[in-house]
Amino acid sequence: MNTPSHEFDMATNTLATDGWCVVSNLLSLAQTQALATECMAMHDAQLLTPARVGADRTATRLRGDSTCWFLPEALSEPQQAFADRIDVLRIALNRDLLLGLVDSESHYAVYEPGAAYARHLDRLRDNDARVVSAVFYLNDAWQDAEGGALRLYLTDQSHRDVYPRAGTLLLFLSSQFEHEVLPATRDRMSIACWMRQRVIGAIC
Ligand code: OGA
Ligand code: MN
Repeated sequence: MNTPSHEFDMATNTLATDGWCVVSNLLSLAQTQALATECMAMHDAQLLTPARVGADRTATRLRGDSTCWFLPEALSEPQQAFADRIDVLRIALNRDLLLGLVDSESHYAVYEPGAAYARHLDRLRDNDARVVSAVFYLNDAWQDAEGGALRLYLTDQSHRDVYPRAGTLLLFLSSQFEHEVLPATRDRMSIACWMRQRVIGAIC
């Protein structure tokens, strides 16, 4: 596709001014449902593994989700559709904000009822490759009363709660926004994705 895409102009403008934004035109409902179906099937088949925070196993209490990385060389059809659209968005961000994003990494995450992820920053202390965090939600007919919001802490000490409704994509600058996942009363599915810059000397 040679013509520049302007479908994410709102996202790139808002990210430039606020450092975060919510996007609703990443994927169609059918594509989102295909991801949800696959994620839940993989969870049922026990293909997701309990997440670890860094190398510190005692830190797992900070984080109650189970995850499975997308393998770039072996994407399923729904994963390929997601990866293709994330790439369109990544290229729009590079064009409009000169972010120099070279690739992305993504994983499915399932939080069972009661599971949470304590307040944290996505950028790892010894690796600043992650520039933009992109969290895509897969949960059909999510009700606010079911909990499970992603709580994003803003620089003025206030916060915003984003509920994990199917089709919602939350973008924020990885190095600037602490956030947490609040517990929910039902299984909560997401895709966590990080768009990365090239880091000289980094292993990954
Ligand atoms: C993460 C994260 C948020 C979510 O994996 O780092 O913050 O809503 N996930 O799944
Ligand atoms: Mn995070």
